[in-house]
Amino acid sequence: MVPGISPAIYGEGDFRRIADLIHNETGIVLSERKKMLAYSRLAPLVRRSGLTSFSAFLDTLAGDPATFTEVVAALTTNHTYFHREPHHFEHFESVARPGVVARAQGGAPVRIWSAGCSTGEEIWTLLMVLLGPSREEGLRIARSKIVALASDISVNALAGARAASYPQGSLDALPESLRRLWCAAVETGGEPRLAIDPAIVAMVRFRTLNLMGEWPMQRPFDVIFCRNVMIYFDTPTKERLVERFARQLVPGGFLYIGHSERVSGPATALLEPVGPTIYRRSAAT
Ligand SMILES: C[S@@+](CC[C@H](N)C(=O)[O-])C[C@H]1O[C@@H](n2cnc3c(N)ncnc32)[C@H](O)[C@@H]1O
Repeated sequence: MVPGISPAIYGEGDFRRIADLIHNETGIVLSERKKMLAYSRLAPLVRRSGLTSFSAFLDTLAGDPATFTEVVAALTTNHTYFHREPHHFEHFESVARPGVVARAQGGAPVRIWSAGCSTGEEIWTLLMVLLGPSREEGLRIARSKIVALASDISVNALAGARAASYPQGSLDALPESLRRLWCAAVETGGEPRLAIDPAIVAMVRFRTLNLMGEWPMQRPFDVIFCRNVMIYFDTPTKERLVERFARQLVPGGFLYIGHSERVSGPATALLEPVGPTIYRRSAAT
């Protein structure tokens, strides 16, 4: 099945077990084309376990939640970058931001969610745009009652987000005015790195959260970004998830999804399209 690998170590049945496991747990569909990828991502964990076959390793997962979490993290795709799909940030800045800032400065709580935040580039971009190009105004906004939630199923990706420090070149895509104001050079002695401003970092709560499971959040959100996450799910899973997002938004709240994703199913009755892959929650239904 995988050239050079004995089927006794990694066989067709093992791939099917991995694909079923990951689909049931996360909603991610691993197509047949991912056999090699699944092998190369999981082989280090199998080796570390001291077991000699994938089958024996997979047998242990039911009783070993920590390793199971590592398996899930190893099979997720965490590719992301700063200022990805800039039209979302332009829409957020011109349409959503004025209301968000007015509510927050009027003392109302405002809640923003980056669901499937990976290593954090999305939430940091969004918060830099929210704080804007004036440091004084930005710090006033940062001190108001805005809470940003950044969640992901991958513990490793979240560790990168929490660290809030990136190779300098990876921030090049950000508008210069925001980068200069909200990032600062870090002394590394090696490659140049930039750290996200502590005022922005303090706004974020990081959580390990499987979008397929229970959501502990009680209160609704004003803005939800869930981009390039649902792309890996099958249609029923996407439709259930997007309906849950819609119901987790305040009336008038915004949902931003990835460029190749669409809202379909029951959520279409709750969400009005207001731009390319941008939706607004209609009045209570
Ligand atoms: C390709 S990244 C997208 C990151 C960012 N939103 C962006 O658009 O650049 C997809 C992220 O979704 C996360 N993910 C996949 N399935 C998930 C699930 N069931 N629950 C929570 N996060 C999930 C992955 O761990 C990964 O970090």
